[in-house]
Amino acid sequence: MAAFFGLIVNPYMTSSIAAPANARLTTEQRVQALLAKMTLAEKIGQMSQLNASDGHAPDYLGDDLRAGRIGSVLNVVDVDVVNELQRIAVEESRLGIPLMVGRDVIHGFKTVMPIPLGQAATWNPDIVEANARAAALEAATTGVNWTFAPMIDISRDARWGRIAESLGEDAFLASELAAAMVRGYQGEDLSAKGSIAACAKHFAGYGASESGRDYATTNIPENELRNVYLPPFKSAVDAGVVTLMASFSDLDGVPATANEFLMRQVLREEWQFDGFVVSDWNSVRQLSVHGLTANDRDAAFEAATAGVDMEMAGDAYISHLEALVSEGRVDIETIDTAAANILRAKFRLGLFEHPYTDPADLPPIASKEALQTAKNAALQSVVMLKNDHDTLPLNAETMSSIALIGPLADAPYEQLGTWIFDGDPELSVTPMHAIHSLVGHELDVRYVRAMKNSRSRASEAFDEAVEIASDSDVAVLFLGEESILSGEAHSRADISLPGDQAELVRRIRATGKPVIAVILAGRPLTLTNIVDQVDAILFAWHPGTMGGPAIADLLFGVESPSGKLPATFPRMVGQIPIYYNQKNTGKPPTPDTVVHIDDIDAHAPQLSTGMTAFHLDAGYTPLFPFGHGLSYASFEYGDIRVSVEEIGLGETVTISAELTNSGDVAAEEVVQLYVRDLVGNVTRPVRELKGFRRVRVEPGQTVRVEFDLHTDDLAFYGRNMTLMTEPGEFHAWIGGSSDAELRTEFRIAASK
Ligand code: GLC
Repeated sequence: MAAFFGLIVNPYMTSSIAAPANARLTTEQRVQALLAKMTLAEKIGQMSQLNASDGHAPDYLGDDLRAGRIGSVLNVVDVDVVNELQRIAVEESRLGIPLMVGRDVIHGFKTVMPIPLGQAATWNPDIVEANARAAALEAATTGVNWTFAPMIDISRDARWGRIAESLGEDAFLASELAAAMVRGYQGEDLSAKGSIAACAKHFAGYGASESGRDYATTNIPENELRNVYLPPFKSAVDAGVVTLMASFSDLDGVPATANEFLMRQVLREEWQFDGFVVSDWNSVRQLSVHGLTANDRDAAFEAATAGVDMEMAGDAYISHLEALVSEGRVDIETIDTAAANILRAKFRLGLFEHPYTDPADLPPIASKEALQTAKNAALQSVVMLKNDHDTLPLNAETMSSIALIGPLADAPYEQLGTWIFDGDPELSVTPMHAIHSLVGHELDVRYVRAMKNSRSRASEAFDEAVEIASDSDVAVLFLGEESILSGEAHSRADISLPGDQAELVRRIRATGKPVIAVILAGRPLTLTNIVDQVDAILFAWHPGTMGGPAIADLLFGVESPSGKLPATFPRMVGQIPIYYNQKNTGKPPTPDTVVHIDDIDAHAPQLSTGMTAFHLDAGYTPLFPFGHGLSYASFEYGDIRVSVEEIGLGETVTISAELTNSGDVAAEEVVQLYVRDLVGNVTRPVRELKGFRRVRVEPGQTVRVEFDLHTDDLAFYGRNMTLMTEPGEFHAWIGGSSDAELRTEFRIAASK
C-alpha cells in the first residue's frame, strides 16, 4: 500500500473494487509500486503471452492466471470468455494484474477495409486513420485491447506474400501512413473505451527476405537499414505506438528476436521507446532453429537479454527465465525492465480501471459509419492503370447490356484479402451485386464465372464467356488472385495472373468488344501478357467488405479513380527488386543505351552494346511506376517554382506548381513531390518522395499546390551512421507519379 498526502491509495487496485486512480500518482509511480510487490515468478508471468483461441480457455489457463504466470493472451474474441479470463486474472490472482488481449486486426475486424497495400494506394492518412479507428471500435467490443498492427515492413519484392499487409516500397509514404494507423488504433486517449494498443511490426527488415520467400534471410547494410527500413518504425514510435513486434527474420546473421542492436541501441537508446516489445509467434524458441542457440534456455537468454519483453505463444520464458536469473546469466534488472514496460502499457490502457468489456459501450458491429469508411477507402484505393480511348467510365444510358466475366466478380470472401481472422463475408457486397444494384434496372447484366478460381486451367467454360461477351456492349473481366495467394507464408515466384486467365483475356479480346479488366490481388502483378489485350485496367487490390459498391461507382463514373501505386509494377518478375528510388549507379541506363534481344545481331561484339544497367529482355523501366494512377479528369502540371533558390541549413524552401483540370469532371489528384540530392556522403537515390497531397480540382480549375521543405526533411544517414543534411544542389519534381517530368532546382548553401 502507498500512502500519499494522507490518502491510502492502493496504486494498482482494480476496477471491481478499485478507488479511481489517484491523479497525483504518475503512471511511473504506479508501475514501480506494483513492480515492488511482485515476485520474480510474477514478473516473468507478465512476459508470457499464451494462445487462448477457443472458448475453453478459462479451463486450461485458469490456474496459470491465478498463479500470475500469464501477462497476455491472444486469439480469443468471445467477449464472455475474455471477461472471464480478465476476471480470473483480476480477482483471483494475488496482485490482480489485468491481461493484454491481442488479436491481428490488420485491416478491419468484422467490417473489412482494403488490405493495407490497398489502403496505401489511397495516399490518404485521414482515410487510413479512419479505417484503423473503425477496426479498433469493432475489435474492442470483444475485449480485444491490443492489435498486432500496423505492419510497416518496406518491401520492394512483389513475390513476397506479405507485401499485401505492408504499406508498400517507400519509407516516406509508409512513415506517414504508419503514424495514421497508430493514431487510429490508439485514439487520442489510449485509456478510452474503443482505443486499443497498436503494434509496429515486424522489427526490422523483414520485407527484404531473400527472393521474396517468407521468413527467408535478410542481409541489409546498416546504412540501408537506417535510410529505408527503420524510418516507418521511428514514425510509429514518434506517434506513440505502445508496442513493437520482433521479426522472425535473420538480420545479417542475428535474428531480430535476439538482435540487441535493434532492440536496445536503436529502439531504446536512440529512439527512447518506453513501450514493450513482443516476439513473433514462437520466434524465441525458433532462435534454435535459426541455429543461433542450442536450446530453449539459451534462446530465452538471448531474446530477453536483447530486449524482447514478452514471448508470444512460446514457453521459453516461463520455463527458463527464473533459472537464468538464479544462475546469474540474466540480471534481475532485465526482468524488472521488461515487466515494467508491460505494466506501463497496461496502466496507459486504463486496464486497471476498466479491465472488463461491455459491448454496449461501443458502436455496433458493421455500423453504417464503418461500412461507409470501408467504402470510402475502397473508392480511393483503386488505381486506374490504363484507360485507352476513354473506355471508362461506362455510361449506362448509351448501353443496353454488360458482360461480367471471371472468378472474382462474385467472391465475397476473396475480396476481403489476407489477414482477416474475423472478417465476415456475409457483410461483403461483391462487384456483381453492386453493379446489379447500380445499373441493373437499366442494363441487362450478364455474368459468367468462366473459371472455378484464378488458378484453374480448365477452359471449357470460356466458350460461354465468349458468347455473352459477343452479345454484350462491353465485357468486364474480374481477374487476379484469391486471398490465399498472398499473406504470410504465401509468396509466389511467378507473379503473373495465375491459371488460364491470360487465355480468357485473349478469347474475350477476340470478340472485338471493349474489354475492361478489374483486378483483385494482394500484390503488384506482372500484367505484361494482358496489358495490350484490354482497353482499361482498374487495379482494386483486395478491396474489402465494400469493394463491390466502390468498383461499381468507379466503373460507371459516380466517382473517378484516384488511387496511386504504393509499389512498382514490374514488366517481368526477373526485374525484382525494382523500385523508383533506386541509386543511379555508375552506368545508368537511358533509352538510347538499352539494347533489346531482338535488336541484337548475334555477331555484335559483347562490349559494343548497351554498357549500362538494364536487362536485355526487359529494359530497365517498370510496367507501371510507383505513384502512377489515372483519373477521369485530365490533370496538367505547370509553372513549378521555388520560393528561393538557395537556403541555409535549418531553413525552409517552398516548392510549388500549378495543377489544372482540363477535363470535364471534378476529381481528386494525389500531387507528389520528389527530390534528388545530387551529391551525398553516401550515394543518394535518383529521387525520393518528400511530400504528397490529395487535392480535388473542378473542371477548368487551376490550383497551386505548395510543399514546405525544411533542410531536416532532406537528412539521411551517411557513412558514419549519423543523420545529416549536406549543402549542395538538389532537383525537385512535382507531378502525379514518380516519373514526373516537371522539374526545378534549389541548393543548400555551405554556410549562411
Ligand atoms: C504471425 C505473424 C504476425 C502475427 C502473429 C500473431 O506469425 O508473423 O504478424 O501478428 O503471428 O498472429
